[in-house]
Amino acid sequence: MNIPRLHFAHLPTPIEELSRLTEHLNGPKILVKRDDQTGLAFGGNKTRKLEFLVAEALEQGAKMLISGGALQSNHCRQTAAAAARFGLGCTLVLNGVMPDEPSANLLLDQMFGAEIVTIADRAHRDQTLQTTYDKAIAEGRKPYLVTYGGSSPTGALGYAYAMKELMEQNVHADWIVFGSSSGGTHAGLVLGQRVFGYKGKVLGISIDEPEEWLKARVSGLASESSEKMGERIDFTRDDVLANEEYCRAGYGVLTDAEREAVKLFAKLEGLLLDPVYTGRAAAGMIDLIRKGFFKKEETVLFWHTGGRPALFAEKYANKI
Ligand SMILES: Cc1ncc(COP(=O)(O)O)c(C=O)c1O
Repeated sequence: MNIPRLHFAHLPTPIEELSRLTEHLNGPKILVKRDDQTGLAFGGNKTRKLEFLVAEALEQGAKMLISGGALQSNHCRQTAAAAARFGLGCTLVLNGVMPDEPSANLLLDQMFGAEIVTIADRAHRDQTLQTTYDKAIAEGRKPYLVTYGGSSPTGALGYAYAMKELMEQNVHADWIVFGSSSGGTHAGLVLGQRVFGYKGKVLGISIDEPEEWLKARVSGLASESSEKMGERIDFTRDDVLANEEYCRAGYGVLTDAEREAVKLFAKLEGLLLDPVYTGRAAAGMIDLIRKGFFKKEETVLFWHTGGRPALFAEKYANKI
């Protein structure tokens, strides 16, 4: 299959051993896959998705990208950077109130030249995104709509091929653990697991959605995405491992668990997590280790999905 793809991510991302964290937790061997180092504008998981999404946009003759998310969306920051890199316009629909002094991801969105539309209430985001898209079409701006989180069947391909990359790195891991939200990373890994024959388990720690929602979303997306690789595979909910135990505080709400995870990674490994996604996913992994969920002789690979700029957002900066 000739799937349109651009190559701008710094790949393969390195895999490192977190031996001091392993020792501290007296747990299984912990590895980290550094997708916070994918190269585009502070990196993160969206870079892999955007290699496929921007390729599709260019193939369709698009002249601008439109996407949406939270005010501190990592996805939107990387989308804006990719648009700048390929000479495309970019409009972002962000829910939240524009602060007097934008910080972190929002500051970066502006630096990449994105036009920003803010809406106070998330409930109106879909509608505003659609209106923005329709207006751009009417004005002849040839927009390409990037689904929230880049989690479309096309975007998920980024993580199907990330699984291939991991297998080519010849590192043994019994478990892959990561944060899952809009489901594209998760769906890609589940698809890649099947297509490329990964023998371990792929466990998504939910950031903000119930387990059942995530399983339905990920299995559906993986099935649709498989068609793009040449042959449909029908995934079911039972093919998806997800854990909703760690998202009860709500999206972006810092609890002691995220604080502890961010501090442990920083103090023991000199490694930065973000407060919203990788902090929560790592907190889940740490709790599961403490509960003896993984066997001591197993190896757990924590897939770092990025998000570091959020550490400097006014919302989180002094709260860790
Ligand atoms: C840093 C980070 N990690 C994980 C995720 C979740 O990835 P997905 O939306 O593919 O589930 C996101 C999504 O925005 C993110 O920014």
